[in-house]
Amino acid sequence: MDYKVKDIGLAKEGEKLVRWAEQHMPVLMDIRKDFEREKPLKGIKIAACLHVTKETAVLIKTLQAGGAEVTLTGSNPLSTNDSVAAYLAKNGVGVYAWRGNHDEYYWCIEQALKIEPHITMDDGGDLITTLHTKQQNLIENVIGGTEETTTGVKRQRAMEKEGILRYPVVAVNDAMTKYLFDNRYGTGQSTIDGILRATSLLLAGKNFVIVGYGWCGKGLARRAAGMGAKVIVCEVDEIKALEAAMDGFQVMPIREAAKVGDIFVTVTGNKHVIDAPALQQMKDGAILANSGHFDNEINVGWLEENAVAKEEIRSNVMEYKLKDGRKIYLLAEGRLVNLAAAEGHPPDVMDMSFSNQALVVKWLVENKGKLENRVYRVPDEIDREVARRKLKTMDIEIDELTEEQIKYLRSWKEGT
Ligand code: ADE
Repeated sequence: MDYKVKDIGLAKEGEKLVRWAEQHMPVLMDIRKDFEREKPLKGIKIAACLHVTKETAVLIKTLQAGGAEVTLTGSNPLSTNDSVAAYLAKNGVGVYAWRGNHDEYYWCIEQALKIEPHITMDDGGDLITTLHTKQQNLIENVIGGTEETTTGVKRQRAMEKEGILRYPVVAVNDAMTKYLFDNRYGTGQSTIDGILRATSLLLAGKNFVIVGYGWCGKGLARRAAGMGAKVIVCEVDEIKALEAAMDGFQVMPIREAAKVGDIFVTVTGNKHVIDAPALQQMKDGAILANSGHFDNEINVGWLEENAVAKEEIRSNVMEYKLKDGRKIYLLAEGRLVNLAAAEGHPPDVMDMSFSNQALVVKWLVENKGKLENRVYRVPDEIDREVARRKLKTMDIEIDELTEEQIKYLRSWKEGT
């Protein structure tokens, strides 16, 4: 397989990282053993657009073990681990990814698509949209696709609604064993990890503003509070705002939070949730980070236009000096801070997300030709199988319903 990575000489380093991840992804490793035996993906070509991390490498090797041929491109210009990319390229994966491939991002996607995939795997939807806009000739080959993240699922649902989605897509993000853990505990921990690695500051006592109280925001709020930060939540959804308030956090609009926040993190999946009016109000020294999929949650363009000077003061920390003398600090260009400044979600949680991915790819192949061109949920039996397997690896046993209880749950006659 052809590839383009930063430095193939980094493969040895990458191998060690992947071995570490394998040690902490026991469910996916179990699935790999099944795949090695059964070869459910024999003859299947897969193009994946995922964050190129040690955890992704464990998934890709599992797909290979099942018999698949795989090409891989990064789903964000700053999330590729170059040594992991080198390791995979050395091991038969057509990798087109390196950290900082801003200008070549879509070129890399186009190279990955040259495999003429039967299955596409997305994290954010850039591969499937490229296929549906620029490479429609490849679509008739495709059996189905998977989507890893909330933002991507939103895009594919919009494609379905417009009637232009041309093959079935499974919203892996919407599996309970994905969003309840990866989005909540994964984003919670890895976002803090990214902020700490970038800034080396103390969180205790800081006003920590979280914009968005979905599963990612909820996880982040709990973790930040656990480290002693004073958490403020900004929301547009009345139910989520209530949840945040009753979870014990201060809730206020961004125009108020802007005046008091020390650290701001966006996790909404929406555009310009920190915009000019908020940026104009912020304190000198305010720190901004994003942990949503795209880099449009903070209006970085406003900072660029209104700064009189700009300097990278630490790795992943850009200092913007404004006309009025205030300094605002932007982490990782406003791109996913957990992946750009740290290593993304820990392997233990990606174990569940990527086990869903592997089992869903197998399910798509088994159901070839039987599905409609729409966005599917992960089948409940896959979701629950991942949960059961994960519990087992954690040595946790649970109870079973008795016959009497099963009967009771199905009945209506027994009451007061
Ligand atoms: N998304 C968030 N964290 C990730 C990781 N470690 N690997 C791949 N995708 C991710």
